[in-house]
Amino acid sequence: MVEIMHSNILELAKMRDHAYQGGGLDRIEAQHQRGKLTARERIDLLLDEGSFEEIDILKAGRGGLGSQGTSYPGDGVITGHGKINGREVFVFSQDFTVMGGSLGEGHSQKICKVMDLASRVGSPVIGLNDSGGARIQEGVDALAAYGEIFHRNVNASGVIPQISCMMGPCAGGAVYSPSITDFIFMVESTSNMFVTGPNVVKTVIHKDISAEELGGASVHSATSGVAHFAYPNDVLCLRGIRQLINYLPSNNKQKAPFLDLNDPPERTDPTLDYLVPPNPNQSYDMNVLIYSILDGAEFLEVHSRFARNIICGFGRLGGQTIGLVANQPAVLAGVLDNNASFKAARFVRFCDAFNIPLVSLVDVPGFMPGPEQEHGGIIRHGAKLLYAFTEATVPRITVIVRKAYGGAYLVMNSKHIHCDINYAWPTAEIAVLGPRGASEIIYRKEIDSAADPEALLNEKMEQYRKYYVNPFLAAKRGYIDDVIFPSQTRHRLIRSLQFLESKIGSRPDRKHGNIPL
Ligand code: HXC
Repeated sequence: MVEIMHSNILELAKMRDHAYQGGGLDRIEAQHQRGKLTARERIDLLLDEGSFEEIDILKAGRGGLGSQGTSYPGDGVITGHGKINGREVFVFSQDFTVMGGSLGEGHSQKICKVMDLASRVGSPVIGLNDSGGARIQEGVDALAAYGEIFHRNVNASGVIPQISCMMGPCAGGAVYSPSITDFIFMVESTSNMFVTGPNVVKTVIHKDISAEELGGASVHSATSGVAHFAYPNDVLCLRGIRQLINYLPSNNKQKAPFLDLNDPPERTDPTLDYLVPPNPNQSYDMNVLIYSILDGAEFLEVHSRFARNIICGFGRLGGQTIGLVANQPAVLAGVLDNNASFKAARFVRFCDAFNIPLVSLVDVPGFMPGPEQEHGGIIRHGAKLLYAFTEATVPRITVIVRKAYGGAYLVMNSKHIHCDINYAWPTAEIAVLGPRGASEIIYRKEIDSAADPEALLNEKMEQYRKYYVNPFLAAKRGYIDDVIFPSQTRHRLIRSLQFLESKIGSRPDRKHGNIPL
């Protein structure tokens, strides 16, 4: 009896050893040659040291045509749970050295198991993707296996944070599952995302294009908006995920962890009184305000290279995580266009789903005019942002810094769509249109028949500016709760967040709304 047990222990050690070698030393070496870490090395860097508990190390795959004799313990993915700064997360890390990290039945069952456990205990799931997609040798079983993951991605959406990190060439199902998750990280140069790769592109539309041009990190972080974060290598990318996790609650029933950065809430910044230039056509960098007000000047920007006319990201005020949405007057004058509307809408919905209060900093001249935007669907994209802010039940605070015109004013978390607290700086301009556009419309007949039309236009613009272009009219109506000194913005925000902490948001009884997707 003792002998049998002993031999089983030896067998277990051998099996584990085999599993640790993935697809073999040659393929591990090839992975390193490409500047990529192995699936296990990545997990070690992602999690707190020594915290990883592996699940299903011995699970094997189904095999199939062409894969006889190549059964790998673990079936090309390492799964389990561990900690990030002491908080539990679930992880799967695809092993490119085993059949290109491709996904078959066993591989999928392992991922589904950790997703189920994560949903059950209410902890985030982090997927480290490095996969050629559906495992060709497993045929329809591989497609069915992807369906199981998609189903779980959707059911976990808004319940636990789901984070995808692209760390190799990812195709087919290997990009569709991440696209349903909350945030996508990519590694520059070594990761790609495409539904169909360069070979298929060549066959179908006879176009030569490299994998990098088709779906590299720069394309997806700056042009398509598919990726939220891009980092130069595996190590920095994994560190980025840890940073993001620190801002988030573990699930939709919790609040984000409180973190005291020893930054006094009542701290003022007199330089903010000079931030807005006297000339309304002159730009300034909204980041100055953002970094000035946030605890410890720490800010994690999301989508930093995409639609840069709007800034979204996480910071803390008085120790509490907030989601910040700010127009950026230094890029396209801060207008709302298709990409900016989509970017901010998705961010607002994430924050609302996970109990993260929203702070908006507004300097928006309007929606971007022109056929390109209209034909591209600015009506439905702008409506996404309007819908997202309006349905959000988390604490919502807005500061109008300068321009707040027309529909864009309304959309950017105005009082009229039930924002909780709306402040304005004395430099705010809240009106239907800017002075020139408004005067040209309402005084057109007078101006056209004037002896000196330009002089009359200037006179009318001046009148309009004095009467409308300020925050005081809105404050008199109660649409602005207070006109505040810029230097005191941080303190006023923190005080408001404190009293809003107990806010109870309610929604009508329905299956779900119908956001204009
Ligand atoms: C089985 C695969 C595989 C796959 C790669 N491999 N992809 N095995 N199924 N899908 C294996 C290769 O045979 C090879 O095995 C090893 O992984 C490394 O692959 P290479 O081609 O040598 O590497 P590389 O040159 O870096 O190219 C990586 C790649 C390419 C871009 C991912 O392999 C590729 O294009 N693969 C196919 C992608 C694809 O079309 N997948 C199906 C998508 S459809 P050896 O033994 O030589 O090491 C899909 C449907 C889901 O996913 C539904 C979506 C809605």
